[in-house]
Amino acid sequence: MEIKKAVIPAAGWGTRFLPATKAQPKEMLPLIDKPAIQYIVEEVRDSGLKDLLLITGKTKRPIEDHFDRSVELEDFLREKNNNSMLDLVEDIAKLMDIYYVRQKAQLGLGHAVYCARSFINDEPFGVLLSDDIILGDPPCLQQMIDAYHKTGTAVVAVMEVKDEEVHKYGIVFPAGDSNRNLFPVSSLVEKPFREKAPSNLAVIGRYILLPEIFDILEDLPPGRGGEIQLTDALNILAQQGKVHAYRFTGQRYDIGDKLGFLEATVDIALSRPDIAESFLRYLSSKVQRGA
Ligand code: G1P
Repeated sequence: MEIKKAVIPAAGWGTRFLPATKAQPKEMLPLIDKPAIQYIVEEVRDSGLKDLLLITGKTKRPIEDHFDRSVELEDFLREKNNNSMLDLVEDIAKLMDIYYVRQKAQLGLGHAVYCARSFINDEPFGVLLSDDIILGDPPCLQQMIDAYHKTGTAVVAVMEVKDEEVHKYGIVFPAGDSNRNLFPVSSLVEKPFREKAPSNLAVIGRYILLPEIFDILEDLPPGRGGEIQLTDALNILAQQGKVHAYRFTGQRYDIGDKLGFLEATVDIALSRPDIAESFLRYLSSKVQRGA
């Protein structure tokens, strides 16, 4: 079945970025001059999907405003003959059809995804976590969709992480040859202790899910951290042979982490023709001074 819809949970508080996130959504923090969430929405658009649902919360109005038209700003830019900025602003509102639903209590990622139930109804769909920026061509979500068409099961994006980092992720237990880029998963565990991790293969925030996940999420008890965990629902499906893991290609940044955010900012700056050269000069002068 064709995948037409995607869901982006964007309801978290962003406590790791306080005080910046005290009065603005963490998803609106810019990587250079583009809010982080726009990179994710563009990935969905570039993967050919039509409809997008954002799971938001009380403090997330600026996200809706960002993807809406801003008629006053457009008029202002038109009067100033600033056509390049006018195009840029107008194009954001044309990116995709975006729908919004509020998660009324922050009960975990599994609960956030459950909020998409009536929007999704009876189709397979993509889920993208906005803390994971993945740059590359083809877009990661497109790769995941291709993987789903090969397996017909749920697919989770995975990458190898260091032993000391397994406690930050959902970790998969491979059922087949995990050296391949697409392999079956026999179980998953959310944020295991290092000694108990079944592998170093961490789930990164891209998923293809089937609507059967909703029946599982509906009755799922809280797991790690007292939250309803998507990983726990996937674990139930994995035990029935209904989950595959996919090693994606592309550069992934954990922008929920300060260092990851900085790395993404630096790499994007270095890829931008308008600033790369002067930024590189600045960096070299820093290195020469041993700073
Ligand atoms: C979430 C998921 C986790 C996954 C991670 C990927 O955790 O619960 O399984 O590995 O995203 O970034 P979070 O980082 O939101 O705590």
